[in-house]
Amino acid sequence: MQSRDTHLHIGLVNVQMAESRVCFIDGEAGILLYRGYSINDLARYSTYEEVAYLLLYDRLPTTQELKDFNSQLASQRGLPAELLRTVEQFPKRANVMDNLRTAVSLLGSYYAGPAGQSLEKNLESGISLTAKFPTVVAALHRMRNNLKPVKPEASLPHAGNFLYMLHGKRPDEVATRAMDMDFILHAEHGFNASTVAARVTISTLSDIYSAVTSAIGALKGPLHGGAAGEAFKTLKQIGSVGDVESYARKALSQDGKISGFGHRVYKITDPRAVHLREVSKQLAEKTGNLRYFAIAQRLEEVAIPLLKEKRVYPNVDFYSGIVYDNLGIPEDLFDSIFAVGRSAGWVAHTLEQLQDNKLIRPLEKYTGRTESAYVPANKRK
Ligand code: ACO
Repeated sequence: MQSRDTHLHIGLVNVQMAESRVCFIDGEAGILLYRGYSINDLARYSTYEEVAYLLLYDRLPTTQELKDFNSQLASQRGLPAELLRTVEQFPKRANVMDNLRTAVSLLGSYYAGPAGQSLEKNLESGISLTAKFPTVVAALHRMRNNLKPVKPEASLPHAGNFLYMLHGKRPDEVATRAMDMDFILHAEHGFNASTVAARVTISTLSDIYSAVTSAIGALKGPLHGGAAGEAFKTLKQIGSVGDVESYARKALSQDGKISGFGHRVYKITDPRAVHLREVSKQLAEKTGNLRYFAIAQRLEEVAIPLLKEKRVYPNVDFYSGIVYDNLGIPEDLFDSIFAVGRSAGWVAHTLEQLQDNKLIRPLEKYTGRTESAYVPANKRK
């Protein structure tokens, strides 16, 4: 019998839950590696398809392997017409993450099959799910706005396809590249809350659709994937560069948090935020919509010195809202975009969990009563 760790690890802070080969993060130095490759190289030179392959197969593909993988993704992007008819009935005013969670769960009704499938079958399902994520989010967006969903276009890449299915017109290269880089930067991040939720679910030998449905539920919260929307709301609320300093001082004097700042792991600027700052600037210059970028830059200047002692710095979500806004993506979709990017990471982790599975079942430190006497209902006061 294993000896019991009597320490309490609230929030599982600093607890190592399993060995993993997917992602390395040094939060002190601001280093992020996917399968050993620097996020800086992947963001600059790679594509989402190549990164998804890397995460799933633990190596970069050859030219032929990438071509085959792209064809596989293209062949899997479509959604069953019957599923789309059900999705059309979803409440139009619901939070998009609620509808996304339900749609992914519904995909499981079509494709998951029984629990306890082979690794090969789970990999196949994982690729199909990664391919379908942009199609689902674009369809949810169009249907809630009474527009017909747009079918995927085989000649377009993953990110370009998403923008095409969302807006109904082919995006230009700058927009496609910006979306692609955003997906790459969100693709993976170790044992974050949503990934752990996915690993917990698959550790019961459930199925990958259930695992990813759990992950979407975890991602919805403002402490995780909801932060992009919150951060963008803050920029809108501030309204002008001249009002940044008073906003920041007031928020922090009231023990408030600035959305898009702070991270459980990074104690310096999140390396992903550096790339998104650059991309959001490029897009803002291209569209001429520089207001929010200017406010964000000023907020960084003002808030970093105020939060230096707590080592709280901008995270990945600080600039992503500006990127989405300049790509014509409405705020209600922000956290579901995170999910589109993260899908490959969730799949990689569920497969890794299955390869060396141990049911995830921690212990609580019980602090409740132990000697409650049962009294029949009619005698209770
Ligand atoms: N603004 C101001 N102060 C902050 C912020 C912030 N955004 N984040 C943390 N702090 C302060 C806390 O008030 C706390 O101060 P205290 O010690 O005086 O009480 C200290 O820094 C430690 O913060 P915790 O919340 O305890 O740190 P934790 O590691 O639990 O939280 C978290 C990390 C949840 C991300 C937090 O920084 C936060 O709430 N940020 C805002 C929401 C956000 O941007 N979330 C996205 C994270 S990135 C992602 O999930 C992709």
